[in-house]
Amino acid sequence: MTLPPLTRRSVLGGVAGLAATLGLDRTALADASTKRLTLVAAPGRSLIAGSSYPETPVWCFSGQVPGPEIRVRQGERVHVRVENRLPEATTVHWHGLRIPNAMDGVPHLTQKPIEPGDTFEYEFACRDAGTFWYHPHQRSHEQVERGLAGAFIVEEASPMSVDRELTWVLDDWRLMRDASISSDFGNMHDAGHDGRIGNTVTINGQVRDAIPVRAGERIRLRLINAANARIFGLVFKDHAPQIVALDGQPVEPHAPDGGRIVLGPAMRADIVLDMAGRPGARFQVVDTFYRGLENRLVDLAYSEEPSLLPSKTSEPVPRLPANPLPEPDLARARRHKIVLGGGMMGMMRSAVMDGRTVDMRTLMQNGLLWAINGVAAKGHVHEPLLTLERNSSCVLELVNDTAWPHPIHLHGHSFRVVSRNGAPTRHREWLDTVLLHRGERAEIAFVADNPGDWMFHCHILEHQAAGMMGVIRVS
Ligand code: C2O
Ligand code: CU
Repeated sequence: MTLPPLTRRSVLGGVAGLAATLGLDRTALADASTKRLTLVAAPGRSLIAGSSYPETPVWCFSGQVPGPEIRVRQGERVHVRVENRLPEATTVHWHGLRIPNAMDGVPHLTQKPIEPGDTFEYEFACRDAGTFWYHPHQRSHEQVERGLAGAFIVEEASPMSVDRELTWVLDDWRLMRDASISSDFGNMHDAGHDGRIGNTVTINGQVRDAIPVRAGERIRLRLINAANARIFGLVFKDHAPQIVALDGQPVEPHAPDGGRIVLGPAMRADIVLDMAGRPGARFQVVDTFYRGLENRLVDLAYSEEPSLLPSKTSEPVPRLPANPLPEPDLARARRHKIVLGGGMMGMMRSAVMDGRTVDMRTLMQNGLLWAINGVAAKGHVHEPLLTLERNSSCVLELVNDTAWPHPIHLHGHSFRVVSRNGAPTRHREWLDTVLLHRGERAEIAFVADNPGDWMFHCHILEHQAAGMMGVIRVS
């Protein structure tokens, strides 16, 4: 047997390993551990609806739906060269990663859109371990829907002890009979109601019938909701998943409320799933979010192999190590109220557009139906909704004054959800996207430590495109 030649990578790995044994600061080696990769955004074809249908014309990253899963270690730097071979401009946003503003991928606000044929180089360090994702922020209601999205996993220094780790990028498509994507992107009906809900649900870009598992296995499953608008409420029949992280951030391991994992668009959950069934058994995973529209997502199909012994499933589910998030000081925090308004069956009669108050009819003629604090946003660049003093603690009281649920996302920060409808939350979870049901209020708290202009918007992408978007400045 001949040894492979030493690559630059393995040499560097050796140096890093040596540094670790010597107790040297890893950051001193930051330059050495930059991971380099390229994503090509381009039209492609993908078998989405199953083998009895033709391939679907999509837009995708590097020929794959979802795009390639990016995996880095916590603390590592990543350099991503994005090439745009789409017929229109794009950008890439790194959802949930706390990175410098100039790398955030918001058109016009943080960078010029990447024109067809051009490239853009993103580079940043990954401070937090967890489950994140990437997607365009330019006309995202169409670009994400056409297939541009991928998982971005930052691994903990010492990974959780499980038998297997899986990522499920959940998506929802509106397909025609020939499996092509319906081209009614951003229509006013979807925009005014609950967004573009599709007719085909996929796991990692395909309709699946079954996922093979083995009795006695412990699986860490990373769930990412990459759909434009569909909210998932997942029940693993006869299994007892434990949530260990939400939006990438560790949380005290706990069973989901009512046994159902609820994920609005852009939200993630890491769960530990113990395979407690018998060899050969099959169990459904069902989505029960929309009343009357319960549907089977997939089956867990146990192999005939005997149960793993010894089995990790008898061990307690460990807590993941916390990320280096600054703790907000609630006693001193500045408080701000943010009201979401508009939509069908709502009370909004007028809103500010381009600096002047206009009626609902004028808003609709401009494709707008929603507002944040009475302002309906036409694009990404605005007068800030709020200006926060750098390093100050803030509490935002979010009020959903509409008849629809909204997953509200803040860029550049993670926040603790400290209360819902006036009651303290049990887990004070860190999130970057908080789902507010109709009429619901929530208080979120964070330290505004990342300078720049950050998007704050609904992640139902049709709502975002129709005005439910704003800018929060940290200066
Ligand atoms: Cu997932 Cu403003 O983004
Ligand atoms: Cu919304």
